[in-house]
Amino acid sequence: MLTPLSFSLLRQLSDGAFHSGEDLAASVGLTRARVSQLLKQAETAGLALERVRGRGYRLLATPDFLEAEPLRQALRELDVEVMPGDAKAPLLPAANDDDLALPAAQIPLIPTRPALSVEVVDQVDSTSSELLRRASRRDIHGALLAAEWQTAGRGRRGRIWTAVAGGSLTFSLGWRYEHGAGYLAGLSLAVGVAVIRALEAEGLDGVELKWPNDLIYRHLKVGGILVELNGDSLGPSTVVVGVGLNVRLPASMKRDIAQPISDLTAVAGRGAPPIDRNQLLARLVAELAETLATYGEHGFAPFAAEWQRRHAYQGKQVRLLLPDGASVKGTVAGVDSTGALVLADGPRRARFLAGEISLRRA
Ligand code: BTN
Repeated sequence: MLTPLSFSLLRQLSDGAFHSGEDLAASVGLTRARVSQLLKQAETAGLALERVRGRGYRLLATPDFLEAEPLRQALRELDVEVMPGDAKAPLLPAANDDDLALPAAQIPLIPTRPALSVEVVDQVDSTSSELLRRASRRDIHGALLAAEWQTAGRGRRGRIWTAVAGGSLTFSLGWRYEHGAGYLAGLSLAVGVAVIRALEAEGLDGVELKWPNDLIYRHLKVGGILVELNGDSLGPSTVVVGVGLNVRLPASMKRDIAQPISDLTAVAGRGAPPIDRNQLLARLVAELAETLATYGEHGFAPFAAEWQRRHAYQGKQVRLLLPDGASVKGTVAGVDSTGALVLADGPRRARFLAGEISLRRA
């Protein structure tokens, strides 16, 4: 568990130099023993520290901590409209008593391309849970929340999402649509396309999709997408898109996580410069915002062909493990406009909304 004080210590250590326990303790107003305890917890969270008697502590790999203002600046350079740092999200029309009296024709329309509000926090339970909580009262259309550390990161199908402070990207973007759930069914797949486009724009080539929206590199998972939706079936809807990416994972974590995983540093390849997480996050958010806007206008159609081209299992013989434990075999024919996986078995075609695919040996 990392606390705000741990982050204050880590930020001091992010220069890569040695800092004595005494200096660190004085800077945060704690005892040396407490500093040592907090730094032990940071190690458990995946940060590699060196302790040398007489010299103090130093971070072996110095994280480039996420920072809101450079992120806003990088987004503006990518032509994204961003709200000033101190702007507060407006109350939802329905949460604002005056608006309840407005005739329907005067209720403001949801803008297709809202200005983004950008917030970076050291720690939160889950960026998606936090935006979902806020959504009941505030307008989260265009709200970006990125966190260095999630204490209860969530994956698909109730799984835990594990990340490492300073070595991952975990963020969520809120959006509103006039449409209902049916129209938005393919949205999570479109988000997968957006993430890969952003990675490629930053020179990270070779990441592919695995239905429905895992991000894989050489069949190892490097990231995941969680799209959560609230609203009436006919609309409007509020969507929270959560993205988690492994940027630099310590080897110990690669071993500990049950699934076979990799990170974007492996994608970049040996000798490549370290990945700038603020820059990568800006690119991801810019691409994601554009994709969410395009989806609102045209649905999944503009993404379907590209999604299939980027699907690592397209045309492959697979086994699909269904949520009830049964499994089916077939050849991946593609996805339909709702994001369902289409499997071919001879002339027969069947569509599936959920499950886990794995390659079948020939
Ligand atoms: C998956 O299971 O593959 C989806 C993982 C999604 C993780 C991201 S990290 C940011 C956001 N907050 C969460 O708690 N989950 C998503």
